Amino acid sequence: MKGILLSGGSGTRLRPITHTGPKQLVPVANKPVLQYALEDFREAGITEIGIILGNKGREEIQEYLGDGSAFGLDITYIVQGNPLGLAHAAGCAKDFVGDDDFVMYLGDNILHQGIEELVDSYKEGDYSAGIALQEVADPRQFGVAAVDDTGTVTRLVEKPDDPPSNLALIGVYVFSPVIFDAIEQIKPSWRGELEITDAIQLLLDEERTIDSHVVEGWWKDTGKPEDILEANRLVLEGIDGSAEGKIEAGAEVEGTVHLDSDAVIEDGAVIRGPVAVAEGTVIGDSTYLGPYSSIGPNTEIRNAHIESSVIIGDSEISTTGKIIDSLIGRNTTIANSEGLLPEGRRLVVGENSDLNL
Ligand code: DAU
Repeated sequence: MKGILLSGGSGTRLRPITHTGPKQLVPVANKPVLQYALEDFREAGITEIGIILGNKGREEIQEYLGDGSAFGLDITYIVQGNPLGLAHAAGCAKDFVGDDDFVMYLGDNILHQGIEELVDSYKEGDYSAGIALQEVADPRQFGVAAVDDTGTVTRLVEKPDDPPSNLALIGVYVFSPVIFDAIEQIKPSWRGELEITDAIQLLLDEERTIDSHVVEGWWKDTGKPEDILEANRLVLEGIDGSAEGKIEAGAEVEGTVHLDSDAVIEDGAVIRGPVAVAEGTVIGDSTYLGPYSSIGPNTEIRNAHIESSVIIGDSEISTTGKIIDSLIGRNTTIANSEGLLPEGRRLVVGENSDLNL
């Protein structure tokens, strides 16, 4: 079995963070989102991986993942270019996949329990596809499954106005190569994309057998900033408290703190875990770093109060104002403007930002 990881798309819902890079490299607990999927592949014993690249961030993704050997994988890059839809992206991997079955994982999804169960269940039967479902509050944002009394999927529909159930399609699928014939037959949807949901519906129309089950552990599609923060909270819940960096005497640390090498918690800083602090970052005196915060690499934080936030890295934060539920992009400076006249907030804010002052 092979794996394909979809890392194209435009990331519009994550702007301005995605103005400068692909959404699949946005960190959750200081690790790029796509790395969670790659670790799931490896744990399921799937090591031949095709990475589908869009137009944005191709170089960054290739630079980060290389040939895959650092992750225990053998990576092939496949260029999709424009985001013409998930089915189009899958279709680009036809030659790579050949006659094998394959798992398709959306590069912005994190599945807490991994993919072993899904893969094993698919292998046990004679299926054309395997899908995973989870109940969601607002199914209209997802692919949705209608199921009969026995739990069998009867119909799949992409982002319906009037959802037939609250069971969303999770962004991990198992396919036999028969999916490529279905992809060739479908037409673009109302949003102009070739939908994988429509291709699977075609398999249902052809009365092929599809394995489906409801996933119990948490699942997150990190398409929007609030989803990144939520995923960050969920991952930090289970983080290990390894402290390779230095905690100075006099620093007050409670709860789980994951501290990478060359990170320093200075005397006078107060930390309440779970938090993750990446390499080369200094949490200075008079800083309060509260639960569910991830601070990326090479960042200096002084006099600040930060809670439940993701600071991507290479930044300097020295404001005394509280920062909560925030997603802060790379190379950002946030300081006090005290003493400067005229008084007020001084902002240099990128296009498509979202500030609540
Ligand atoms: O997260 C689960 C949902 O993912 C499913 O419930 C939906 O049925 C499915 O269509 C998909 O919906 P999204 O609208 O959230 O998909 P999105 O456009 O965000 O793309 C998902 C990933 O695939 C993302 O990492 C970008 C990548 N992608 C997307 C497109 C459209 C590509 O690589 N190529 C593409 O053409």
